[in-house]
Amino acid sequence: LARGTAAPDLAGRRVVVSAGGTREYLDPVRFLGNRSSGLQGYALARAAAARGAEVTLVSANVTLPDPAGVKVVRVETTAQLRQEVVAAAVAADAVVMAAAPADFRPTEVSDAKIKKAADGSAPAIELAQNPDILHEISTDRARPGAVIVGFAAETGDATGSVLELGRAKLARKGCDLLVVNDVSGGAVFGSPDNEAVILGADGAAVDVPYGSKTALAHRIWDEVAGRLPD
Ligand code: CTP
Ligand code: CA
Repeated sequence: LARGTAAPDLAGRRVVVSAGGTREYLDPVRFLGNRSSGLQGYALARAAAARGAEVTLVSANVTLPDPAGVKVVRVETTAQLRQEVVAAAVAADAVVMAAAPADFRPTEVSDAKIKKAADGSAPAIELAQNPDILHEISTDRARPGAVIVGFAAETGDATGSVLELGRAKLARKGCDLLVVNDVSGGAVFGSPDNEAVILGADGAAVDVPYGSKTALAHRIWDEVAGRLPD
């Protein structure tokens, strides 16, 4: 905290942050992935460390430098992400799922590189749904009193607005806070900036105006810190 300006309000707290996007392999060289850059998760890890927390960052396929003073655990697939997050959650005062786990994985991973067929046909890829890590840790509550935070990137659709979908997702996941972004247009991916509404299971709705991912990270930790038991 030497030159930091943040108050050490997370001193003595253990927090877990997941970041990046998982990859689901089809064969040794190909995968299904997504556009998550890891910037928001890394900003959360740096902000928590600046506020005195002991931080574990479970990082999926992120190319950013390791944040100073943070334990970084690297994973690739959703199964690996789940294993590391569930293990770290046992002793965590807060878990923030900023990662974008792939929702589906190929049912079969080929040991050998898939080759093109001579007849010009393409393979069909069968998919299975991945486990929902946020739902699992919110339901199990390995450490009572821990604050569990999810993210939701929504565009809004015929079934509801971005906020309505966010409220429904918060209830479905069972977490304490859900950070909802409007991603219509895809502008947030890889951008240093973000805007969001932080929804609480307690009814809270905190509007965070457009600003840096670091500013949003600190606003999220404010909400977490205010809900931690003494
Ligand atoms: N999440 C998770 N495990 C998954 C999928 C998502 O833990 N297999 C977490 C994400 O890290 C995020 C939150 O759940 O914090 C919401 O992710 P999102 O993709 O919006 O939720 P889904 O349940 O996958 O719903 P959707 O069908 O809208 O993608
Ligand atoms: Ca999803």
